[in-house]
Amino acid sequence: MSVKSCCIYSTGVISILTLIAGIVLVLSQVFQNILNAKIKKEIVLRNGTHAFDVWENPPPPVYMQFYFFNVTNPAEVLRGERPAVLEVGPYTYREFRPMERVNFLENGTKVAAVNTKTYVFQSDMSKGPESDLIRTVNIPAMVGYNTNTLP
Ligand SMILES: *[C@@H]1O[C@H](CO)[C@@H](O)[C@H](O)[C@H]1NC(C)=O
Ligand SMILES: *[C@@H]1O[C@H](CO)[C@@H](O)[C@H](O)[C@H]1NC(C)=O
Repeated sequence: MSVKSCCIYSTGVISILTLIAGIVLVLSQVFQNILNAKIKKEIVLRNGTHAFDVWENPPPPVYMQFYFFNVTNPAEVLRGERPAVLEVGPYTYREFRPMERVNFLENGTKVAAVNTKTYVFQSDMSKGPESDLIRTVNIPAMVGYNTNTLP
């Protein structure tokens, strides 16, 4: 190899490297733009985006469970005896919190909505039907009974 062809050769290598670097840069710029567009498409709170769907109708289910102390000897309690209680439950309700009357204001920069809550009984997650009868003690009345029976 002569000195001249060596230098031409290395210049060629450098140009190819520069070209590759340029292509990589352009590609990463293109990729960044695609990513930005995708993020903008998904997270902007606008009808049709994934973020809007999640915001309008939150997906992870929220459950509320209730336990009660059921008085099992109501007749005796009425005669002044101590109440015997049995814990019953859970009675499970699922909470739905959809946004309603969604209204975009000021060209999409503001949004107004009403957040309503609905509770739906979940019989498969409850021990007993929603129609179960539960007797509880009327605490203020009980306190009244007790002070009356004090010596
Ligand atoms: C609660 O107790 C009452 C009697 O006081 C009974 O009739 C009723 O079935 C009980 N409810 C449950 C859920 O066990
Ligand atoms: C919304 O945009 C329109 C035109 O694009 C404009 O005429 C109007 O004044 C804007 N309204 C608000 C509240 O910015």
